[in-house]
Amino acid sequence: MATLLLAVTGSIAVYKVADLASKLTQAGHDVRVVMSQAAQQLVQPSTFLNVTGNKVFTDLWDPDGQTQHIALTDEADLAILAPATANSIAKLALGLGDDMVSTTLLALGSPLLVCPAMNTRMWRNPAVQHNLATLRARGAHVLAPGSGNLACGHVGPGRLAEPVEIAAEIERLLAEGAPPVVDEWGEGEDPLLPRLLGEWQLEGEVRGHPLRQRVSGSALYAGRFLRLTYHPSETPGLDGRPYAAEATLGYDAQAGRYVMQLVDVFGAGPAAVVGFGEREGSELCFRFAYSTGEFETRFRWLPEEQGWDLSLTSQDGEGAWVPFATKRLRR
Ligand SMILES: Cc1cc2nc3c(=O)[nH]c(=O)nc-3n(C[C@H](O)[C@H](O)[C@H](O)COP(=O)(O)O)c2cc1C
Repeated sequence: MATLLLAVTGSIAVYKVADLASKLTQAGHDVRVVMSQAAQQLVQPSTFLNVTGNKVFTDLWDPDGQTQHIALTDEADLAILAPATANSIAKLALGLGDDMVSTTLLALGSPLLVCPAMNTRMWRNPAVQHNLATLRARGAHVLAPGSGNLACGHVGPGRLAEPVEIAAEIERLLAEGAPPVVDEWGEGEDPLLPRLLGEWQLEGEVRGHPLRQRVSGSALYAGRFLRLTYHPSETPGLDGRPYAAEATLGYDAQAGRYVMQLVDVFGAGPAAVVGFGEREGSELCFRFAYSTGEFETRFRWLPEEQGWDLSLTSQDGEGAWVPFATKRLRR
C-alpha cells in the first residue's frame, strides 16, 4: 500500500475529496493531507484527520512541523492535488511557494495527479489552460473535470471528477510507476501542434449522429510528439457503444511531413492506422489508407475562437469523396 500526499485547495468540491480520502484510507493507503487556508473555509481539517487518522498540515509555520513540507514529500509515493483550484494550478505552474500546499508541491519528487474543479468560465480561461499545459508538459497527470451542473448554477465543464474515478486513476498511476518527466514543448516548436495541448470538449456529428466527448492533448518526448486522447464518448457511437481513440501526432522533419497514428474502437471493431499529412496555413490535413478506401482528416485552427474545427471525409466505392464527420474542439 502506498503513502499518498493529498493537497486540498479551496474549491466547493472539497467535500468530495473528504470522501476520496476516506476511500483511499479504507483501501489501505496512508493518506497525508495538507490544506490551504481557502480549503479550511469550506471543510474543517478535523474531517480529514478523522477519515485518515493522520495529522493534517495547514501551516508552514506550525510549531510542530518546521520542515514538514520536506518530510511529507520525502515519504510520498504519489501526490494528488484535489480539488485543484485555478489559483493552486497557477501557483504551481509559476513555482510559487507561499503557503503549506504550494511549498509542499514545489518540493515534490513523486508523480503528481492534478484534479481541477472550478466554474466553467474559469476552466475555459486561457490562463488556466496554459498553466495546466505547463504542468502536463512537466510530467503531471491531469484528470479533466466532468461536465454538468456546477455549484455556482452554471452548466458545463469544471465539475471535479468523481471520487471513484480519482481513486481508480490513483491506482492506475501507482501500478504504472513513475512516468517519464518531459520538458516544455521543444525548441523550434511546430506552429500548430502545441495548440492542441490541454483539455477540450468535443462536439460534432458522425454521419448525422451527435458526438460529444472529452479530448486531452499532452506532450510526449519533450514535445516531439503530441498525444490526443479521445475519452469514451458521452453519446453512443455508430455501433451503439462509446467511441474512444488515441492519436499520436508529430512532424517528421527528415521526411518533411506530418504523421498521425490512430488507434480507435469504431463500428466493426478496433482499428489502427497511420496517416501522413501536411500543413496548409493554419490547417493540418492527414490522409489514411483504410482497407475500405481513403480517409481524410483536416484540423483547422481558429485563432479568434482559440479552438479547432475538424472535418473528416471518406472515399466511397467509386472513389468519390463524401462527408463523414464534423467536429469542434473548444475549451
Ligand atoms: C464558496 C467558494 C467556492 C469556491 N470554489 C472554487 C472552485 O471550485 N474552484 C476554484 O478554482 N476556486 C474556487 N473558489 C475561489 C478560491 O477559493 C480562491 O481563488 C482561493 O484564493 C483559492 O486559494 P487556494 O488555491 O490556496 O485554495 C471558491 C471560492 C468560494 C468563496
